[in-house]
Amino acid sequence: MCGIVGYIGQKEAQPILLSGLKRLEYRGYDSAGIVTIDEKSKATLLRAKGKVAELEGKALTHTTKDSVGIGHTRWATHGEPSKRNAHPHHVGDIYLVHNGIIENYQDLKHMLTKHDYIFKSDTDSEVLTALIDFLYKDADSLLEAVSGALKMVVGAYGIALFSVQNPDEIIIARKGSPLIVGVAEGEVFIASDASALVGHTDQVIYLHDGEIGVCTREGIQLYDIETQAVEAEVEKLELDLQAIQKEGFDHFLLKEIYEQPKSLRSTLSGRINLKTNSVKLGGLNMTDDELREVRNIMVIGCGTAFYAGMMAGYFIEQFTDDVAVRSEIASELRYRSFHVPDNTVALIVSQSGETADTLACLQELKRRGVKCLGVVNAVGSTIAREVDGGVYVHVGAEISVASTKAFTSQVAAITMFGLMVAQAKGASSKELNTYIKELDLLPGEIESVLENSTGEIKKLAKKYAKYEHALYVGRDTQYPIALEGALKLKEVSYIQAEGYAAGELKHGPIALIDDRFFEVCYLQDNWLYEKSQSNLIEMNARGAHAIVITDTDKRVAAEAVVRVKTKLELLTPLVFNVASQLLAYYIAIARGNDVDQPRNLAKSVTVE
Ligand code: G6P
Repeated sequence: MCGIVGYIGQKEAQPILLSGLKRLEYRGYDSAGIVTIDEKSKATLLRAKGKVAELEGKALTHTTKDSVGIGHTRWATHGEPSKRNAHPHHVGDIYLVHNGIIENYQDLKHMLTKHDYIFKSDTDSEVLTALIDFLYKDADSLLEAVSGALKMVVGAYGIALFSVQNPDEIIIARKGSPLIVGVAEGEVFIASDASALVGHTDQVIYLHDGEIGVCTREGIQLYDIETQAVEAEVEKLELDLQAIQKEGFDHFLLKEIYEQPKSLRSTLSGRINLKTNSVKLGGLNMTDDELREVRNIMVIGCGTAFYAGMMAGYFIEQFTDDVAVRSEIASELRYRSFHVPDNTVALIVSQSGETADTLACLQELKRRGVKCLGVVNAVGSTIAREVDGGVYVHVGAEISVASTKAFTSQVAAITMFGLMVAQAKGASSKELNTYIKELDLLPGEIESVLENSTGEIKKLAKKYAKYEHALYVGRDTQYPIALEGALKLKEVSYIQAEGYAAGELKHGPIALIDDRFFEVCYLQDNWLYEKSQSNLIEMNARGAHAIVITDTDKRVAAEAVVRVKTKLELLTPLVFNVASQLLAYYIAIARGNDVDQPRNLAKSVTVE
């Protein structure tokens, strides 16, 4: 979503804000802006449509030495991406940046218009700026005005603002949209995402919903919405600079695809034990008795996280006898009628831990008394804080908007949870042991695809980049991979790609096959091989341009075949998935796209 940065201290704020925005750019990148203020209250506001680089260009000719400022990189919700709609917004005495959505902004705008406010942008954020300015006229302090305004708004926000009346103070507040404060001697850093703080300080404070912070050079004082002082808890930030740099790769997406052996090893580390054939997840906060009782697992997420849940669900139902797994799209679940059977555990899957729809499901399930566990990457994120327990996937910062390494580790983490449940129930089936063994082998198997298949996939990508449509098909455990493969392609290449269950081809999608399409078929050499092969034959008979990703040595009739050698049997889809990640990446590169920041997307969707 949008990114927020802020700085108050002794140093020049502009370069700090700009470099922070660059790091947050993956959260939103249709426009950006910064405002700094000097001790005489002269503010310098710079805004630009497009990426932070545009803004940097402007800053070159408007350099300031000011040591206080706020900045924003935007992912448009209200109003088109334009300079006019870019943040910071300025109304009266107030400059403000906002992440989130003010739902009742029309009513507030109407009221403010009656008080002679004129609006220059189409945004809800400008209305909030005006509201604070309006209340500030009669308030004793800016804190009081902010608190008053926030009590009037309906919606979600992370905000940072200052008033020209006091250039030595930045006020921040959050409700449903993350904000982190880094504290150091004589300075305070503000960011909506920890990556902007790395290298400045490792002492951080995560704001809770409903909190307001007054930042000065002396530090930060937190308040609740009633302006009662609240104690801040300082934590150590576990994120290093290396994790947020490309390290020689052309793009974060490629770096993250290549990181999977390593990131997966850290997901598995200390959690699977080959000697005892067992799994141990430390943070579940569930006793063996509680695990034994589990009969239903609901896995909830958005985008790739949803597919990770679906993938792991297919695995878990293979090695359990009495556990039903259902995966749910968070944006659907939160508004539809649904029933939660007894003995259910909900797994809330989110790389960022901030996705608004996923968070809303968590809150609803908690309200209903359902045990909720998080499968989260971002330590200290909202979902991680609100769940009853869970598993951190520990993949490090994922910067590329299209999720890759998080997916693989989310599947591993959810599968390990299933294994914990199966273990507690006393199961010791062959499948269960094979799963543990294969989880252990998986990082090495991914390494080998990366080593052996990249060159070939790169060549194929050049050939298939010209198509405008693609069908991804797979059966059984290859079906979620077909969905995820198609999602990856559409996100980064803008080729229209559909994932389908191979058995469904005849029920519609086969009608699409023509020379405008290519097809990706996942053909695993297992008990469904013949069935999947029939689907391929059906497609070939209609003139398909099929790329088959397979682990078989047998002859395969297709336009292109990517042979992935693997020792795995059950977790093979996760290895095939790496091949489709590479395919998506290289096709997008061949089409000249911005693979790390694809158009219209954002890494973390903190609004509905
Ligand atoms: C956005 C991202 C996707 C991600 C999804 C869920 O759409 O672009 O890559 O899969 O959100 O994000 P989460 O942080 O909840 O896993």
